[in-house]
Amino acid sequence: MTAQINPSILSADFARLADAADAAKGADWLHVDVMDNHFVPNLTLGMPVVEALGRATDIPLDCHLMIDQPDRWAPGYVEAGAGSVTFHVEAAAAPVRLAREIRAKGARASMALKPATPIEPYEDLLPELDMLLVMTVEPGFGGQAFLDIMLPKIRRTRALIDKYGLEMWLQVDGGVSAETVERCAEAGADVFVAGSAVYGTDDPSAAIRALRAQAEA
Ligand code: DX5
Ligand code: ZN
Repeated sequence: MTAQINPSILSADFARLADAADAAKGADWLHVDVMDNHFVPNLTLGMPVVEALGRATDIPLDCHLMIDQPDRWAPGYVEAGAGSVTFHVEAAAAPVRLAREIRAKGARASMALKPATPIEPYEDLLPELDMLLVMTVEPGFGGQAFLDIMLPKIRRTRALIDKYGLEMWLQVDGGVSAETVERCAEAGADVFVAGSAVYGTDDPSAAIRALRAQAEA
């Protein structure tokens, strides 16, 4: 299986984001966590920073929107330069319409599930998506412990994707590290977000290579 590794700049130095992008050599996507202090109890960055980051790097941007009213804001992130936009289904008023709008604007459309949100009610929406994100921590902060109890949901989501023969990707985010990446891959994930496990080391690029090797083993 081909694994994609998306370092999360949430664990990088926010005063040096362009350097963080440079340090992420070998990354498939740069994961950008947008938080609004409402959907999650933390505040990070918005469209102007995404736009600036897009100018500073050739690595495509994977924007994870942890915000209220994604129906209103997500399309703007495509215009700001995101190649993939993930909204949370818990916050979306009309997820199908929103996914179609993101695709129509030219980005990959992705939907995220918090730990307590099951996949089953959304089974019929999968063909509208390019990626499904199963959160493996409660969203809001980097450096939290991986939730093992999410492994069955990853497995069930993988089974649904295979059952319908979909090309879509299955992403995991939260606590992904050398200790947990293999369990995620074995359960069926193929896109791995890692914040502290990449930027908490002296050599982010080596950490990316190591995680990919483990995920593909
Ligand atoms: C958490 C964010 C994650 C975070 C992951 O809400 O969505 O992307 O950066 O950080 P680690 O890999 O340290 O758990
Ligand atoms: Zn994230």
